[in-house]
Amino acid sequence: MKTTQNIPVLEARNVTKEFHIPTPGFQREYIAAVDQVSLSLHDKPANIVTLIGESGSGKTTLSRMMLGLTPPTRGKIFYRGKEVFTLTKEEWWEYRRNVQPVFQDPFSIYNPFYRIDRVLDLAIKNFKLSSSADEAQSLKEEALRAVDLRPDDVIGRYPHQLSGGQCQRVMLARMYLLRPKIILADEPISMIDVAVRMLFLNVLADFRDKYHISSLFITHDLATAYYLGGEMMVLCFGRVVESGKIETLIEQPGHPYTQQLLTAIPSPDPTQRWETKANVKITDRPLTHEANKCVYIERCPHAMDICSRQRPPDYQIEDGHYAACFLYQDRPVRGSEI
Ligand SMILES: Nc1ncnc2c1ncn2[C@@H]1O[C@H](COP(=O)(O)OP(=O)(O)OP(=O)(O)O)[C@@H](O)[C@H]1O
Ligand code: SF4
Ligand SMILES: [Mg+2]
Repeated sequence: MKTTQNIPVLEARNVTKEFHIPTPGFQREYIAAVDQVSLSLHDKPANIVTLIGESGSGKTTLSRMMLGLTPPTRGKIFYRGKEVFTLTKEEWWEYRRNVQPVFQDPFSIYNPFYRIDRVLDLAIKNFKLSSSADEAQSLKEEALRAVDLRPDDVIGRYPHQLSGGQCQRVMLARMYLLRPKIILADEPISMIDVAVRMLFLNVLADFRDKYHISSLFITHDLATAYYLGGEMMVLCFGRVVESGKIETLIEQPGHPYTQQLLTAIPSPDPTQRWETKANVKITDRPLTHEANKCVYIERCPHAMDICSRQRPPDYQIEDGHYAACFLYQDRPVRGSEI
């Protein structure tokens, strides 16, 4: 497929995913798990976008849409400028290779009856990465070393004989072999040992800097997001309520939701988790027919009349920093900036 520099490798354009929710009576009710979200991942230059949000905010649903596993209800996912569900067989194959997932549970993706390095053998075989058994073996060892694993500790072992952190890094070794353009990492470190989390993050940063691999890093852990740097998007009930450079969002959060989350954490500290410390639990998720209001209105200390009548657009607080909040209605709306 033709590569054009300005076209993102992977783009979600205004995607919405609605799910039916069980209700008493005959009326069918829906929630928007993801509500008009747009994001782009490029390879030149590679970037890391962190998506942060509480449980149920729609992080996994967005990632599944970007992987082509779940079709959006509205909006589209584009791979190199072409809508993913219209890709030809060859283009789909390229998309599958270039957009790779890392899932939350490091054990769930391995077959317990096979040795763990089989995932590397299969990648080498399926994508024809070597022409001899010796070459395959040295490729495998090189990939393991690239993610800080000793080949002797891993090769020939079964998943249950390794730690969660080692299993996650074997998945990264597979990425090293495949050299995808994009990694979609859905809470990849939440189930691994604190001691190896930084190692994992360093590998993602290395991939970005050395191999131009971009990542969507999904988390609800502010400290790790801060460590990675780059862009951050704050998701609340399926909507992106604030986005911009992570340092800006932490030092000058614009949206009342982000502000409330941050007040509980005076400084980024790896031992503190955003979700639990902020103690913000929103149970009144709006139904789709109530979409014409701010999703944060029930908790917002600054709520105004307009907030219950209209959905706030993204206002530009400063260059590259946006908040979907009427407190900034004197600022330009995204897309209308001069
Ligand atoms: N297949 C489905 N059918 C119905 N509702 C769903 C389905 N998948 C997700 N949802 C709902 O969509 C919302 C978003 O779910 P999602 O799993 O994307 O959230 P999340 O941000 O990944 O949460 P977590 O941090 O717990 O992983 C939730 O309210 C969830 O119950
Ligand atoms: S739009 Fe209104 S209710 Fe929503 S966060 Fe801003 S001030 Fe609060
Ligand atoms: Mg999830």
